[in-house]
Amino acid sequence: MTELTERVALVTGGARGQGAAHAEALASSGLRVVIADVLDEAGEKTAAALAEKGHAVRYIHLDVTDEAAWAAAVENIEKHDGGLDTLVNNAGIIRVTPLNELSLAEWDLVQKVNTSSVLLGMKAAFPAIARRGGGTIINVASTAAHRGAEAYGAYSASKAAVLALTRAAALEYAPHNIRVNSISPGGVETPMNDDEPAGGTSSSTPLGRRARPEEISPLVVYLATDASSFVTGADFLIDGGVTVR
Ligand SMILES: NC(=O)c1ccc[n+]([C@@H]2O[C@H](COP(=O)([O-])OP(=O)(O)OC[C@H]3O[C@@H](n4cnc5c(N)ncnc54)[C@H](O)[C@@H]3O)[C@@H](O)[C@H]2O)c1
Repeated sequence: MTELTERVALVTGGARGQGAAHAEALASSGLRVVIADVLDEAGEKTAAALAEKGHAVRYIHLDVTDEAAWAAAVENIEKHDGGLDTLVNNAGIIRVTPLNELSLAEWDLVQKVNTSSVLLGMKAAFPAIARRGGGTIINVASTAAHRGAEAYGAYSASKAAVLALTRAAALEYAPHNIRVNSISPGGVETPMNDDEPAGGTSSSTPLGRRARPEEISPLVVYLATDASSFVTGADFLIDGGVTVR
């Protein structure tokens, strides 16, 4: 594997929220980071702000549901950044709709953005990471993958599938020295939760609050780097204790 300071990470959904925090944390650890999103203005702004702090971060447009766009993004990164070592499949959406009101179109959209994207991302990144002699993939799931919640059926199913995909990829990619893990955050203060009542899941969380995005990022850095060299196929709850109840 390449030296840490020569490694390149791709963080999807990196224009804002947790993805932007993960990009900054990975860049602070010495990696070059490419953030990808569909929010081009926010993405360019985030990359520029991180570059101003001295980090090697740039933005590319990538709709994670588009297989051809994935191939182009990975090709672009290999060409401009010299290779790809780490993929953080972080992009995601939420829809909160009771099952009896959930249309097939809404269900399909959530599965496509949250789950199919993880498959497409891993397939696209695999040859590039393998060419580097190994690397890491971090898939972002959720506590919703682990517990039931009214009106979260589509979202929970999409994230539970991310856990299953992570396990399959860990087995298939291990011979190529590629470690694949997932993280399951609880409530995090990001624009995704803008529609939640103030505090969101805070009252049911033992630590009594939602996480700040930068509290999740050290786990991503751990899983991306050699500190986690014997860890693969695992899911990590990072949730203020909410799943203990
Ligand atoms: N916020 C929470 O409480 C919470 C908890 C657990 C897990 N998560 C997960 O964490 C991840 C990050 O979410 P966040 O909290 O930062 O929310 P966020 O809405 O701020 O960020 C999600 C990002 O994904 C991008 N995105 C959406 N669809 C995309 C597509 N088709 N292609 C490319 N990018 C796309 C968005 O533009 C946005 O920048 C998501 O996978 C989410 O499901 C969030």
